[in-house]
Amino acid sequence: MTQNTIAADSASTTTSATSTTTSATTSATPLRVAVIIGSNREGRFGPIVAEWLLARIREHADFEVDVVDLAESHLPTALSYNPSPETLAELGKVTPKLAAADAFVVLTPEYNHSYPASLKSLIDWHNAEWQAKPLAFVSYGGLSGGLRAVEHLRPVFAELHTMTIRETVSFHNAGGLFGDDGTHKDPTAANAAAKSMLDQLHWWAWALRGAKEVRPYGS
Ligand SMILES: Cc1cc2nc3c(=O)[nH]c(=O)nc-3n(C[C@H](O)[C@H](O)[C@H](O)COP(=O)(O)O)c2cc1C
Repeated sequence: MTQNTIAADSASTTTSATSTTTSATTSATPLRVAVIIGSNREGRFGPIVAEWLLARIREHADFEVDVVDLAESHLPTALSYNPSPETLAELGKVTPKLAAADAFVVLTPEYNHSYPASLKSLIDWHNAEWQAKPLAFVSYGGLSGGLRAVEHLRPVFAELHTMTIRETVSFHNAGGLFGDDGTHKDPTAANAAAKSMLDQLHWWAWALRGAKEVRPYGS
């Protein structure tokens, strides 16, 4: 073995020891998930499903949660590279939460075979915040359970370099599934589906956060 090879070997040992330390730190830091409540309709059903979802995430102890409720932000549909102070104030309610997130869950209803305009507006006002992060869907609606909205959202997020999770939870004829007290009448299947989805979301969030620490996305 030449001197140069020994130097290279010890350098690689040092590098891998450093990365072991880095990943130990990383895995100890909780992953942040932003739950986006997509409906802002007056009289909306969304908060009922959101409460169910937040309870499932709390059971999955490995996530810290932020809620982005689109009924509480009023982003204009007209995009601008020079937003007004009012728009900057609205962005201030949502952008930091998206930027801080390691992962997302989008809660979407279905309107006319697609997803709400409020959601499209939030998506289009942002870019880097979505990149190289995993995103899961929970949907609800009439007969379709919001699945057409989800399938329309997947190519939108592909454009933004977001990793959409295969597993979803969908509530078909959602209004009839929850009691007057807001709890799911027969939650076993939905809760199991949520666990599978959150397990996948967690794996991707953990893997992508670690990868980005080693090498920034896009470099
Ligand atoms: C404008 C509008 C269009 C809708 N279109 C569909 C549809 O295409 N497919 C479906 O399954 N449900 C449809 N629905 C039913 C909604 O998905 C359902 O009412 C859901 O609860 C709406 O979510 P929200 O109450 O949180 O706004 C529609 C509802 C509205 C208000």
